[in-house]
Amino acid sequence: MTILVTGGAGYIGSHTVRALRGAGHDVVVLDSLERGRADALLGADLVVGSIADRDLVTATCRNYDVQAVVHFAAYKSVGESMTSPGLYWDNNVAGTVHLVEAMAEADVSRIVFSSSASVYGTPDAVPVTESAPLHPENVYAESKAQMEKIISWYGVTHGISSVSLRYFNAAGASTDGVIGEDWSVTTNLVPLVMKAVLGASGPVQVFGDDYPTPDGTGVRDYIHVEDLAVAHVAAVEHLLADRGSLCVNLGTGIGSSVREILMLTESVAGRPVPHEVVGRRAGDPAEVYADVRLAAERLNWRATRSLDEIITSAYAWHSSTI
Ligand code: WQD
Repeated sequence: MTILVTGGAGYIGSHTVRALRGAGHDVVVLDSLERGRADALLGADLVVGSIADRDLVTATCRNYDVQAVVHFAAYKSVGESMTSPGLYWDNNVAGTVHLVEAMAEADVSRIVFSSSASVYGTPDAVPVTESAPLHPENVYAESKAQMEKIISWYGVTHGISSVSLRYFNAAGASTDGVIGEDWSVTTNLVPLVMKAVLGASGPVQVFGDDYPTPDGTGVRDYIHVEDLAVAHVAAVEHLLADRGSLCVNLGTGIGSSVREILMLTESVAGRPVPHEVVGRRAGDPAEVYADVRLAAERLNWRATRSLDEIITSAYAWHSSTI
């Protein structure tokens, strides 16, 4: 029984490939290697190509007797999505249509989808539940919301069952330091803090310290990438057991501030993090963290790794690759 992982050479994808194989599943990865790294696959089978190549996807599904797909392949830069939206409509949204059409052609009827908490936009209330209204505030987030809907409709028209996983803020690296995030393709806080503390960039910019939060800086729900990977295994096995389609948040349910991230990093690194407080970033909510009950109830999954483990693993990984 093989699992096809699209975008498996990326950050969360590579950790999920490792977790699936560790759980005894055979895996084949489809990745264009445009933004991923083959060495992160640790020897998993790799087909280099695009999800838009329907014949390639169908042939791969048939050749490997694929039973389920985990779909990561997508662009994920909020800023890029606003300057080059066509990339996101084409690669993310149209690419997903090609993928599920190719799955249907190959009689593959299960998909786990890598969605995002950014589909909520600025939530009306925290913790954010899955029933909260979706207010995407950028093309990246809108593309994720549309991908969710497309996949859900293929459940109605083609009987494809799905689990959409709405990640909060993924961070950290493998606890054993073998794989981690490529900081050259991200604008997220934790890798930027690591760049600054390791002297690979100038000071990290703190986007505002005048929010209505305990220390004035933005609050987010940081979840360890290995906890996310375990959740994907649980979602695959949920579908293989035919337990039905759903959409769940993946977070810790705990909000942590930018200043807390800086302080933890200083403690782990043993030196200050060069930083400067600048104005707020447009579109940033003050506080976002997850209601995590549904994933516990339906997937029997909870995050187990702490913010300290996130920062420690991120620092160890980036220190080893600098
Ligand atoms: C986190 C906090 C910023 C950078 C992401 C993306 C997407 C999604 C998760 C999957 C905020 C502050 C950041 C910096 C800062 N994941 N910050 N200086 O904004 O929560 O959005 O959510 O789809 O990756 O949508 O993540 O890491 O950009 O910001 O002060 O240089 O750090 O204001 O409070 P965000 P982020």
